[in-house]
Amino acid sequence: MPITIKSAEEIEKMRVAGRLASEVLDYIAPFVQPGITTDELDKLCHDHMVDVQGCVPAPLNYAPPGHQPYPKSICASVNHQVCHGVPGGKKLRAGDIVNLDITTIKDGWHGDTSRMFAVGAPSILAKRLIDGTYDCMWKGIEQVKPGAHLGDIGHAIQQYAEANGFSVVREFCGHGIGSQFHEEPQVLHYGKPGTGVVLQAGMIFTIEPMINAGRRDIRMLGDGWTVVTKDHSLSAQWEHTVLVTETGYEVLTVSAGSPPPPAFIRP
Ligand code: MF3
Ligand code: CO
Ligand code: CO
Repeated sequence: MPITIKSAEEIEKMRVAGRLASEVLDYIAPFVQPGITTDELDKLCHDHMVDVQGCVPAPLNYAPPGHQPYPKSICASVNHQVCHGVPGGKKLRAGDIVNLDITTIKDGWHGDTSRMFAVGAPSILAKRLIDGTYDCMWKGIEQVKPGAHLGDIGHAIQQYAEANGFSVVREFCGHGIGSQFHEEPQVLHYGKPGTGVVLQAGMIFTIEPMINAGRRDIRMLGDGWTVVTKDHSLSAQWEHTVLVTETGYEVLTVSAGSPPPPAFIRP
């Protein structure tokens, strides 16, 4: 499938789906406390999406080629888990960090966003990684405008991550999104300026860097989904769904509880 350019009506539906996905994170934030299990977080999010928002949780039974169906409604990636952490019965403990990744389908259109949460007080390294990864995402978002290249996004992210002594996971990337969960193009979180697809107004894709405190190498757990760092170093991720506008970008996954953009983003 080629890269689709969304119409004004489609963009409006993507705004709704994006806001709803972000509102799930607003809803779940106060529950992310020591003692709760990621299964319990999954159930709370599932019920909120289905019963309150009238959404379909896109991950549930999602089965891309070469994968078994994903068994839960959210991804919950704890500490050295990089992404696609399958919720389970283990309790969160003070000092853990966790990424919650929510994808809603509303009226046939997808919104995809994730945030990091610290359970209790994070270590100095964990906080630096969480904040640095947030800034990486925004360094990428800042590049988005018609005529820019996808490589500009990847380069900005890689440059900032590595300048801070972190590494960029290569095996997973952002993606086009719309009526399908994962569309073209692939949005790499590393690369060279001026390379790759040229952005056009009406494109919608995610930017979702996975940044490791240690080496970039990863490994897949036996569940076929959960990805972890090979060296067991901490990993963080943030994700927004972003529209290319005539003049720059619009973040679609925003809600009342969205953390503000970093200070280097001027309004
Ligand atoms: N939400 C993830 C992303 O950002 C994809 C999760 S696929 C799942 O692309 F099946 F694990 F849910
Ligand atoms: Co995504
Ligand atoms: Co996601």
